[in-house]
Amino acid sequence: MKKIEEYVRSIPDFPEPGIIFRDITSVLNDAEGLQLAIDSMDDLLKGVDFDVVVGTESRGFIFGVPIAYKEKKPFVPVRKKGKLPLETISQDYDLEYGSATIEMHKDSIKPGQKVVIVDDLIATGGTVEACIKMIERLGGEVVKVIFLMELKGLKGRERLKGYDVASVISYE
Ligand code: PRP
Ligand code: ADE
Repeated sequence: MKKIEEYVRSIPDFPEPGIIFRDITSVLNDAEGLQLAIDSMDDLLKGVDFDVVVGTESRGFIFGVPIAYKEKKPFVPVRKKGKLPLETISQDYDLEYGSATIEMHKDSIKPGQKVVIVDDLIATGGTVEACIKMIERLGGEVVKVIFLMELKGLKGRERLKGYDVASVISYE
């Protein structure tokens, strides 16, 4: 059986010179790769007591929804600015290339809810840090943050100090 690392493609100089892009389309495009990715991420939640999964547009949706489904928990989408129809809170952030604003519906997290954040990859940690800020502004408690991949060199974990962070595979 192939390891999850073998399904990820690494593309140099995308979307900018100097970036090695870790492509998950090749993981998704293989039935065994997809199952292995979801099941391996879900294993990181063993023993975690939580109420809701939060995932960020767009790759956080791909992994967050099947994990919420497996765990029989609801899923809350964090979307890029201007996509959600009701009252929102928003947060600006920077990432490995560029900057953005993300939003959540104000009523999506209830005070006291225990939240797991799911994303495909942590680079600088800026995206997840912005998610955490919004979840905490809504009164939620982030009990675990899980990724398929971690880019160690960008020190995203340091930005998430104090939170329980886990990933399936990591790159230097
Ligand atoms: C990517 C990735 C993570 C984030 C990681 O999303 O899916 O969410 O960047 O980078 P960070 O740790 O430096 O914040 P991107 O914003 O490229 O959007 P996409 O999922 O729509 O491709
Ligand atoms: N998001 C931020 N940095 C990335 C990278 N190097 N590969 C894939 N997605 C990313």
